[in-house]
Amino acid sequence: MKIAFFDSGMGGLSVLHHARKALPHESFIFYADETHVPYGTKSREDVERFVAEAFEFLLAQDVKAIVVACNTATSVAVPAMRARYDLPIIGMEPAAKKALALDPVHRVLVTATPITVAGEKMEHLIERVDREHLVDRLALPELVTFAEHMEFDSPAVENYLRKELAPYDLATYSALVLGCTHFNYFKPAFRKILPRTMRFVDGNEGTVAQLIRKLKERGELAEEGEQTVEYFYSGERVTDAEELERIAAYNRRLDEVYDL
Ligand code: DGL
Repeated sequence: MKIAFFDSGMGGLSVLHHARKALPHESFIFYADETHVPYGTKSREDVERFVAEAFEFLLAQDVKAIVVACNTATSVAVPAMRARYDLPIIGMEPAAKKALALDPVHRVLVTATPITVAGEKMEHLIERVDREHLVDRLALPELVTFAEHMEFDSPAVENYLRKELAPYDLATYSALVLGCTHFNYFKPAFRKILPRTMRFVDGNEGTVAQLIRKLKERGELAEEGEQTVEYFYSGERVTDAEELERIAAYNRRLDEVYDL
């Protein structure tokens, strides 16, 4: 059986990229909802509907777990999907807890989509982990559009980030939380602006660790066989050489930025 990774678009590849290193024998399906991306600036009702459609498709594909490699979809729709389906559904949330554990003294800047930043799930997370009121939140929706166009290092990206980060006294922060899976591609652009003292924190490692725990619990971790990955755009299998090359280019970018 396969493990599905689902995102509104190409951001979820960053989580899959991590999982592929940790799980060498699994068969993966990557589902990018390219018809509906971006999610983060749409209504919660729309996102609920898109996620329900994607799940229906994925459940018909012989999957043993679904990783919602999207903070926005998790924030809006994971509880409803867990209530509906009886398989491990691994969600994501901005890794504010991890950032505060690494440095409980300095400030933390959580970046995400507008839906995630303003959502109830985020409120609960802050209440739970941010006792000292060190966390600030910033929505960066344009990065999703830039990422979908593979525009990672352009002057437009840099200008956008400079403008959005200008109100913050970055010297007082220890971490920038990448609370949207599309944001991993922009580590080099962020790096140009952030002080050296700020580290990147994302939820990829924690999400994959949770996936592994769930599979082990159910005795469903593959221990032999070759790793495979199939790609889908909104329910359509990607077979076109040009599109497969597009995906390969995202994966190359992820190799480059992995250790930054
Ligand atoms: N990649 C998604 C996330 O982690 C959302 C991007 C979008 O569609 O707005 O939140």
